Amino acid sequence: MKIAFLGDVHGCVLHALGAAVMLQARRGVRLDAVVQVGDLGAYPTPERYDEPSRRFGRDHPAQGDFVRLLDPAPGFAEGVRAALDEVPAVLFVSGNHEDHEWLDGLHEAAGADVVPVDPLGAYRHVACGNVVDVAGERTAFLGLIESPGYMDFEPDAYDRLMAAEPGGVDVLVTHDGPYGMSQNRHGEVQGSAKLTRLIEHLQPRFHISGHYHHPNGPRYYGRTTSFALAQLVRPRVTKWDPEPVNPEQRVTDGSVGLLDTETGVFEYIDDAWLTEVCGDSLDLAGLVAAAR
Ligand SMILES: [Fe+2]
Repeated sequence: MKIAFLGDVHGCVLHALGAAVMLQARRGVRLDAVVQVGDLGAYPTPERYDEPSRRFGRDHPAQGDFVRLLDPAPGFAEGVRAALDEVPAVLFVSGNHEDHEWLDGLHEAAGADVVPVDPLGAYRHVACGNVVDVAGERTAFLGLIESPGYMDFEPDAYDRLMAAEPGGVDVLVTHDGPYGMSQNRHGEVQGSAKLTRLIEHLQPRFHISGHYHHPNGPRYYGRTTSFALAQLVRPRVTKWDPEPVNPEQRVTDGSVGLLDTETGVFEYIDDAWLTEVCGDSLDLAGLVAAAR
């Protein structure tokens, strides 16, 4: 079986579907599942954006695609439907930039741990602390991040996974990464010590995460191999780079991973065709037609 993993999407939901369709077509593989590691940018309206989502959204029109997906115009819906004819719906876990209250309400209304969040069924949210069969892999999902004073993992969800049997999970999907995986530009150590403890307890074959917006790994924790993914579509400009880094709003190297569950090989996708998935207003129907 083949599972595609996608880094932080921050609203660019058409780019995410386009990347999955292109991965399948250009690599000549069949994806059995697509998993996104949080910061999908799941807000029901722009009014519900947090401050960073509002700030980045102003200069990055494609970050509005998640809200467009909730009430899709005919051409927009056509592209999404065309993509879903090719690839499975995307399972995602909560990042730190989502409307968590809104997502909780969807789970309560449906009485289910996995719920579609949009009318076309393109994206399905997995509530924290659940273990779901994903392409035959027992896959645990733990969203949110450990950041004292700002956010923490849901205690019940964390405790439930810490109480699960070691080896009882094949893949662990989280938004945060393990402690010490990297440093930020101020030299501060990144990652969650609680998450490291969870990885060391569960000992899944693979751990996949996002949040820090750069590829990281492989890192080894006992029998676990851990990888982090880059942000799917990097910003046009950053404070730190003198030149624009992504003026054409292309899918970023290291933001897409492919796991072959038979061979046990995870690889970052850095193929040139990823750059074809681009733009402020992605023509997904056209991309799917070209990929076929
Ligand atoms: Fe993010």
